Amino acid sequence: MSESTTNEGAGGPVDLVILGGGSGGYAAALRASELGMSVVMIEKDKVGGTCLHRGCIPTKALLHSAETVDVIKEAGQFGVNGTFESVDIAAVNAYKGKVVDGLYKGLTGLVKSRNIETVRGVGRLVSPTAVEVDGRTIEANHVLLATGSVPRSIPGLELDGERVITSDDALAMERIPASVVILGAGAIGCEFASVWSSFGADVTIVEALPHLVPLEEESSSKLLERAFRKRGIKQELGARFESVAHTGSGVRVSLEGGKTVDAELLLVAIGRGPVSQDLGYEQVGVEMDRGFVKVDAYCQTSVPTISAVGDLIPTLQLAHVGFAEGILVAERLAGLPVTPVDYDGVPRVTYSHPEVASVGLTSALAKERGYDVVEATYDLAGNGKARILGTAGAVKVVAAKDGPVLGIHMVGDRVGELIAEAQLITNWEALPGEVAQLIHPHPTMSEAVGEAHLALAGKPLHSHS
Ligand code: NAI
Repeated sequence: MSESTTNEGAGGPVDLVILGGGSGGYAAALRASELGMSVVMIEKDKVGGTCLHRGCIPTKALLHSAETVDVIKEAGQFGVNGTFESVDIAAVNAYKGKVVDGLYKGLTGLVKSRNIETVRGVGRLVSPTAVEVDGRTIEANHVLLATGSVPRSIPGLELDGERVITSDDALAMERIPASVVILGAGAIGCEFASVWSSFGADVTIVEALPHLVPLEEESSSKLLERAFRKRGIKQELGARFESVAHTGSGVRVSLEGGKTVDAELLLVAIGRGPVSQDLGYEQVGVEMDRGFVKVDAYCQTSVPTISAVGDLIPTLQLAHVGFAEGILVAERLAGLPVTPVDYDGVPRVTYSHPEVASVGLTSALAKERGYDVVEATYDLAGNGKARILGTAGAVKVVAAKDGPVLGIHMVGDRVGELIAEAQLITNWEALPGEVAQLIHPHPTMSEAVGEAHLALAGKPLHSHS
């Protein structure tokens, strides 16, 4: 890192130029400036990126509106009389927009207060130490690529933004569809299925693999499938998409084997691909793999002065992973000792109703890695708070025999908030017996985490041994 804290406008190169102001890029900018580096961040749209403007935040606002619908509809179950009237989608969008705008204002203020120069425009890598934007060349000692991802499709499946849409289009929609087919049962597919079903749409999910959220512990997938079935969300699992045709009123989705499903629209949620084309990466010698930028465990690319973070690199496409990678790069460039991100230890949450949360290894993966696995599942039916809330699900703990906890997998409303404790347990490699010693407050959902460990430690309390 150079001693200089002046930016390129004052003469010499800046310490760090960042291409992309999403979660990964802006986290690196904030940390680097905190460490005394001069930083220029180039963003073609709005600082905050996918997470703030088209991802995590607006979808969670939608999910909260959806939850409010469910609370009103289910009020009778708790002895409260209330009648659900309707969803005012314009008002829902206004609320969502207000949340995003408030966070955006806060973020831009924060970036400004740290003396980070933000340049609005499309940047392009022109050398190992320079980026060009709108005719201006910004020289830097280090470059960080953080250009993120966009929804992807498959050959022959043309996205038109009207009938065949992505999550970006879905977030901008000003109506609630009467019926939807959702292609892909990852986090995006399941979260939109949850929202639209709460809003009254007829929803069918089509997933090529045998389960919803197929990367999760199989028992979690099965619990979500059961909960979604009860909610009337139809599921075509192990079903391969063949084609989509436009009909007078919407789309007809054909699956391999001949089955067809008609709906007003098709949401394509089969993953997100990196934004790396025509940005000069290959020309400057950055090694790529199917569009992703290849990095080492410290997020350094094949060009030593260039790092890359976030959805652009082939690690988990999660905002909190982007934050961690951005911070790691800033600290490495500032000469601090750094530890690679432990990707197994990253908490994952799908914020559907019910939620699915997990951290660490699934039992299948633990076995694959050679562990002698023991496990315990605590059914939320035995948990007082879960009964009070009227939510079903379970907490499953996977551990090495006579060893530490390797993974925790949960399904149920609000379990996303429990993953923080599960993360500490897993990442600190706690033994089930140690966690069993910890007293959990009664009555809370968190007791289910304690109970699962009590069971695994051989002393179950509110569960059958
Ligand atoms: P994903 O990769 O998580 O899920 C896509 C699903 O589509 C997979 O289950 C896959 O088997 C299925 N699929 C692929 N091709 C198919 C086909 N032709 N027919 C039927 N099914 C097919 O991708 P998703 O849900 O689009 O999300 C993109 C990224 O954004 C992911 O990394 C996800 O984790 C992240 N994200 C995270 C959220 C969260 O943490 N709550 C929320 C939303 C997105």
